[in-house]
Amino acid sequence: RITYVNGRYVPSREAVVSVEDRGNQFADAVYEACQIKDGAIIDLRRHLDRLDRSLAELRIATPMSRAAMTHVLREVARRNKVENGYVYWQISRGAAPRDHAFPAGVRPTFTATAKSLDVAAAALRYEKGVPIITLPDNRWERVDIKTVGLLPNALAKQAAREAGAFEAVFVDAEGYVTEGSSANVWLVDGEGRLVTRPADRGILRGITRSVLMEVAAAEDVAVVERRFTVTEMKTAREVFLTSAGAILCPVVSIDGETVANGVPGSIAARLRRRFHDIAE
Ligand code: PDD
Repeated sequence: RITYVNGRYVPSREAVVSVEDRGNQFADAVYEACQIKDGAIIDLRRHLDRLDRSLAELRIATPMSRAAMTHVLREVARRNKVENGYVYWQISRGAAPRDHAFPAGVRPTFTATAKSLDVAAAALRYEKGVPIITLPDNRWERVDIKTVGLLPNALAKQAAREAGAFEAVFVDAEGYVTEGSSANVWLVDGEGRLVTRPADRGILRGITRSVLMEVAAAEDVAVVERRFTVTEMKTAREVFLTSAGAILCPVVSIDGETVANGVPGSIAARLRRRFHDIAE
């Protein structure tokens, strides 16, 4: 595999960043991950918009122009021969002797990798649906910024794995669902409307989430942005997850209890079919 690191494409095992990179020591870094479908990077413009916002929130300098970044990402995908999978890139504030406050005059560290997806496994998840578990949300308040500070997310995903589940969904102190460890969460209510948490606080504003709203509009499916509880989710007509990796993944059990009769729902299937007509 090939990795891009600060201007060079190198074999991944030779790719190096400093031990004192702030991404390592403080998770002082932001990232993006885009799906690659049939060789094309999906929704890149929207991901670059979100990256700009994450960088601005943390006052990390942009390492290069959008055109240059786009070129690097396509090149990483091409050199790794990824037709279906994803491209991952991250920008840290840079490397400097350890000090919590921002160092002066550092250059951001920019790395990018690409990986193929197990298409058959993804298709099976879509066809059969997946089990999820719920866990208390123990993350900080700025999860709207896409930082690499993902330890709670990693621990939650591991807990899901150990419980035989595909994803862990976080629940806030008031009992409302926030989001998955690496996906947004949706339900279909009794009237066939999509319900998802507003993306003001407590969740990442997923790109797939935004695209799905456009898909829903095109399909005449109403979308309501409001909070919902675990109980409401467990009794919903349908539940599904969205992310650049999984696109739209139906949920068939929550904490070991069957939801939506244990089979993927028809609204999820309809939206999923239309998804790539809208994504660009
Ligand atoms: N995760 N919420 C969280 C916490 C996420 O990490 C992600 C994406 C999403 C969905 O966002 P989007 O639709 O833009 O992918 C929601 C990526 C895929 C990851 O960390 O690998």
